[in-house]
Amino acid sequence: MYKIVKAEELTTNIFLMEVEAARIAKSCQPGQFIIARMDEDGERIPLTICDYNREKGTITIVFQIVGASTQDMASLKAGDSFRDFVGPLGCPSEFVSEDLEALKEKKMLFVAGGVGTAPVYPQVKWLHEHGIDADVIVGAKTKDLLILEKEMEAVAGNLYVTTDDGSYGRSGMVTQTIKDLVAEGKHYDTCVAIGPMIMMKFVCLMTKELNIPTIVSLNPIMVDGTGMCGACRVSVGGKVKFACVDGPEFDGHQVNFDEAMQRQQIYKTAEGRAFLKAKEGNTHHGGCGNCR
Ligand code: NAD
Ligand code: FES
Repeated sequence: MYKIVKAEELTTNIFLMEVEAARIAKSCQPGQFIIARMDEDGERIPLTICDYNREKGTITIVFQIVGASTQDMASLKAGDSFRDFVGPLGCPSEFVSEDLEALKEKKMLFVAGGVGTAPVYPQVKWLHEHGIDADVIVGAKTKDLLILEKEMEAVAGNLYVTTDDGSYGRSGMVTQTIKDLVAEGKHYDTCVAIGPMIMMKFVCLMTKELNIPTIVSLNPIMVDGTGMCGACRVSVGGKVKFACVDGPEFDGHQVNFDEAMQRQQIYKTAEGRAFLKAKEGNTHHGGCGNCR
């Protein structure tokens, strides 16, 4: 069992939990994720790690209520436990294994959309701890939906907050701020964008135009999280990849976002899953959605 030591609602429908998981906390890196299960019959819920404390042996996760399982999960309090908490899964962010001196020469821009701010945080924090201050754009629909602003401010070089409705910070979507910063003379060698799929698609269209290599973190539907079921299949550079083992981070300019978004929708129904099974064959084995 994995005890929850802290549980709080950050804003409407978005929750933060700190969970005792010493083995994961000991070895996890920015970019990796965990799969949580509340009880033996519970759905497996993949969540990118938002923070880790190696001394305390805890992992912090942030999630949004999107269905019955996350609704149930939101009712858990400090002192309650998860039945399973598996990880660290997926590959760490590439920069973690880059030469530090070369990394210090790079100007990095992070673009975080909504709940995607949570997975961006450990990356920016890691860089800060290694003497690198990256620029960060955080976008939210409106002021009340903004999360982790203070935490991000403490580790970012420059933090640019945007709200779609102009209720706080800059007005408009994150893409507008990328355009404005570059027009103001900012230069970026690389961009990391994490948020809703549609945001990542449009950020990539813009950074392609601006010639800024861009990494995205994909969160398609996952079942086993170990490359067995095929649920998280995506196309990157025309090749089949599985986000759980080949990612979750990929070259954003190579990702087929339209296919990924369409597949997310199709996967939701039994008929859709049968269709994918017929279309994708063996790479879809086991990922029928009936796996508990
Ligand atoms: P949201 O819809 O509030 O969007 C957040 C920001 O993204 C917006 O404020 C805007 O600046 C930008 N954005 C949205 N659509 C855009 C567009 N068409 N063009 C340019 N910019 C755009 O975000 P939310 O409701 O917090 O997002 C929830 C979604 O994020 C869920 O689908 C969830 O699965 C996904 N998510 C992804 C990850 C990941 O690892 N990729 C992590 C957490 C959540
Ligand atoms: Fe990636 Fe099953 S979740 S293959």
